[in-house]
Amino acid sequence: MRVYLDNAATTPLDKEVLETMLPFMTEFYGNPSSIHTHGREVRSAIEKSRKTIAQLLNTSPAEIVFTSGGTEADNTAIRCSIEALGIKHAISSPIEHHAVLHTLESLHKAGRIQLHMVEVDKKGYINLNHLEELLKQYPKSLVSLMHANNEIGNVTDIQLAGELCRQHGALFHSDTVQTMGHFRHDLQKLPVDFIVGAAHKFHGPKGVGFLYINAQNRIQPFIHGGSQERNMRGGTENVYGIIGLAKALEIAYRDMDEHQQHIQRLKSRMIAKLQTEIEGIAFNGDPIQSDKSLYTVLNVSLPIAEVGEMLLFNLDINKISASGGSACTSGSEIGSHVLRSIDANPERASVRFSFSKFNTEQEIDFAVQTLAEMYKKEKVA
Ligand SMILES: Cc1ncc(COP(=O)(O)O)c(C=O)c1O
Repeated sequence: MRVYLDNAATTPLDKEVLETMLPFMTEFYGNPSSIHTHGREVRSAIEKSRKTIAQLLNTSPAEIVFTSGGTEADNTAIRCSIEALGIKHAISSPIEHHAVLHTLESLHKAGRIQLHMVEVDKKGYINLNHLEELLKQYPKSLVSLMHANNEIGNVTDIQLAGELCRQHGALFHSDTVQTMGHFRHDLQKLPVDFIVGAAHKFHGPKGVGFLYINAQNRIQPFIHGGSQERNMRGGTENVYGIIGLAKALEIAYRDMDEHQQHIQRLKSRMIAKLQTEIEGIAFNGDPIQSDKSLYTVLNVSLPIAEVGEMLLFNLDINKISASGGSACTSGSEIGSHVLRSIDANPERASVRFSFSKFNTEQEIDFAVQTLAEMYKKEKVA
């Protein structure tokens, strides 16, 4: 048995999704920009996919732009809104994904913006009172706060953050890569300017995603070229990727309640079993508060000094694929910026387990057992 518990990194492709994609690799190969029948039938499939996504998110198809994934969608939202709307200040948090952080930092270094960071507490929660203070000081900023953190799973109340942004005339971008397909976003109710999705996080193909751009905002493309995506992204579309993305999101919404219950049960089982098997176990983030913790992610903090990569390597030898980082800053090991921001103890090893609808209780038990044996060995040594 080999157990895959790294679903926040990527998820396996759903067979139902693959079947929908296959004809677009063989039979329907026209370029969607071509005006002949071959092109038009593919164009129509792309527009159908756009409509499906828009309906699921309760918005209009014109507000959905296909991209090569989450990173490009985040870059487009941030760079292009700052450029087109003359924004001088950005507000973000130290626990954002590098797709957001590095983009903002590069704009800051280039002198395009001033960057302000919202405080994060030890449990990994963004301080929304501090956001409000920053917004009073720097109204009309671009605010970028992720919905759920990919390393520790903390969920931010983006409804409230968005309302604060609206009150202060700020633009609001939320990196929703980890919640898209795992959480229902209703764009008629959610006060956001930009949110994003990456198909491979919800059993779709890799290398395709989308950006929602609220119609109030007029921005220029990030990738210049042809007039694809209503002039918002040049380049021939990733046709079968787009078809797979829409199908994967459709399935995710269709089965969401069932999968959420199943995955939450796996996560609670793992928490309970780890607490009985490993003395001094702790968790990074706040996974016990299930409504404030993404059900697909569990970040475990172990009372052993083994460095993060060694632990992951040992888990791998024992047939478990997981991911992680540490709070460590010494030597060449830079460690996780998220764990450092929440003051995680660098003396302890951290590992992130992340789950999908395909995981089973047996797999969870196997992972706990393996981890418990590794812990016992370390204690004896
Ligand atoms: C929160 C978050 N944002 C952005 C990304 C980047 O998405 P992609 O791999 O599709 O470029 C990821 C992927 O790990 C993520 O977890």
